[in-house]
Amino acid sequence: MKTKSIWGNPPTRLYKLLNLAKNDWGKNFTACIVGCSDGKFLMPLAREKIKITGYDIDDIALYGGYKDFPIVKEKQKHEYSVNFKSKDFELERKRVLGITERLSIEKLEQFATIEKRDFYRTNSTEKFNVVFTSCSLHYSANKDFTLEEKTKKLQEIVLPKGYLYIDYMMAIDENDYENYPSNKFYRKDEIKKYFNTDEWEILSYRENNNPSFEGAHVDCVRDHFHRFGYILARRIK
Ligand SMILES: C[S@@+](CC[C@H](N)C(=O)[O-])C[C@H]1O[C@@H](n2cnc3c(N)ncnc32)[C@H](O)[C@@H]1O
Repeated sequence: MKTKSIWGNPPTRLYKLLNLAKNDWGKNFTACIVGCSDGKFLMPLAREKIKITGYDIDDIALYGGYKDFPIVKEKQKHEYSVNFKSKDFELERKRVLGITERLSIEKLEQFATIEKRDFYRTNSTEKFNVVFTSCSLHYSANKDFTLEEKTKKLQEIVLPKGYLYIDYMMAIDENDYENYPSNKFYRKDEIKKYFNTDEWEILSYRENNNPSFEGAHVDCVRDHFHRFGYILARRIK
């Protein structure tokens, strides 16, 4: 039986990365998702029988449990304004599957190693051909580390010729360090400075200038805005 992530389906970028890796190594490569949550990005790789490791710190995302979902009767898209205030949504508590449960239901446990691990606070010795993280660096759990430290820590676990994909939150107001602290939100072109060009080739890179609207969802139960960026780089040596 195919299970679903509470975060929906992965964007095509995941499959583009997967195809790059498959062109190099067939299915004979290792991948790691830092902040794997309930498996939105991890399950597609496990289904392809690729050896995948996932780290997360959220017990419910890992092992299953109850989460509060906003009841959105009518989806409404808003334009960004500095003073935007979301309405309050009623909440309903629902049982969600954790990644370990999803792997078990789909009989894919043999392809995945799931670890409860605070990635930025622990030292990993294992390195991978592909390392992927989506919107995890800004979490409050990681606020004691600079974005440079976090980016470099991700780089450390990438094998030579391996790929690193990071998508990240950016400051909506680049001069506002109170609402967009420098340890959580990247400024324009900041991340590129942390990729030493002797060691890394940037294959794809995009930063949005404008905030995009996101409706209330589990874990962030009010309508809100984000500004996103992503980078895909390859370790040269
Ligand atoms: C935004 S969620 C990913 C959700 C979903 N995959 C998506 O992007 O749509 C980021 C995940 O990173 C995890 N995370 C944040 N900091 C972490 C850390 N230091 N070590 C491991 N996981 C972390 C969070 O618990 C969360 O499950």
